[in-house]
Amino acid sequence: MTVYTIASGKGGVGKTTFALNMGAALSELGMRTLVIDCDIGMANLGLMINLESKKIVSLHEVLAGKVEDVSEAINQTSYGMDVLLSGISIRGFKQADPEKLREAVEKLVDEYEFILLDSPAGISKESMVPLAVSDEVILITNPELPSVTDTLKTKLMTGIVERKIRGTVVNRVMGAKGELAASKIEELLEVEVLGVIPNDINVTKAVAFKVPVVVRMPGSPAAKRIKEIARKLAKLETSEDSGKYGFVERLLGAFRKITKS
Ligand SMILES: Nc1ncnc2c1ncn2[C@@H]1O[C@H](COP(=O)(O)OP(=O)(O)OP(=O)(O)O)[C@@H](O)[C@H]1O
Ligand SMILES: [Mg+2]
Repeated sequence: MTVYTIASGKGGVGKTTFALNMGAALSELGMRTLVIDCDIGMANLGLMINLESKKIVSLHEVLAGKVEDVSEAINQTSYGMDVLLSGISIRGFKQADPEKLREAVEKLVDEYEFILLDSPAGISKESMVPLAVSDEVILITNPELPSVTDTLKTKLMTGIVERKIRGTVVNRVMGAKGELAASKIEELLEVEVLGVIPNDINVTKAVAFKVPVVVRMPGSPAAKRIKEIARKLAKLETSEDSGKYGFVERLLGAFRKITKS
């Protein structure tokens, strides 16, 4: 069981997109996965998926101590993973105590192989607690210096709360002149680059349909790279064409799902 916090210094670099799609990609590999929207002030995850019916109880109520059993706030999705959404009201945000996140996550660890915490940008109590609650942190950055330097700050904050960095993901790469190369980012952050995700119009299209891009457009450039990273996290061998899962692997994933249900 691993709790990964998806974090960045700068806002809008792709944390929520990555957490959502990584959740779906890990589920496709047969891993029981939960994605928690820990961005309790500016929740977005719920806007990126279609849920047949949404639980009325959200992370706001959980963090306000209003819920006996945290599982009351968990929604199943048709993409494999479960999600625990944040509320969107300002009142709910004010009542939520981020410190209660640890207790909530601890109650869920036995249910899942992966728990992904989508965190808010910046340095605040709301962003520090998910770092502190994680087993390891996955940093997300865009290939520009301001984004990388802010990510460096998040790396330092991770050190302060004594958690480990699993690696960094470089997102929205266009191959434009002036972009920082993955090797340069690795050098600046002194952190392994887990993967490079291109800027891909299919991500935008998938958001409009409220479906993860790895589900809607599994062969798209961004989806392929995200699935490649999922295989790394799931400790599966990467193949030549890691965008496609092999027959044996899919069979294994299906088998895992059956034996767990
Ligand atoms: N690889 C990509 N290609 C194209 N668009 C992308 C890609 N990744 C993310 N986006 C888009 O970038 C925008 C910001 O993404 P997202 O909301 O995931 O960022 P975030 O880091 O969670 O932001 P915040 O800090 O506000 O929570 C969204 O419109 C999303 O669709
Ligand atoms: Mg976000």
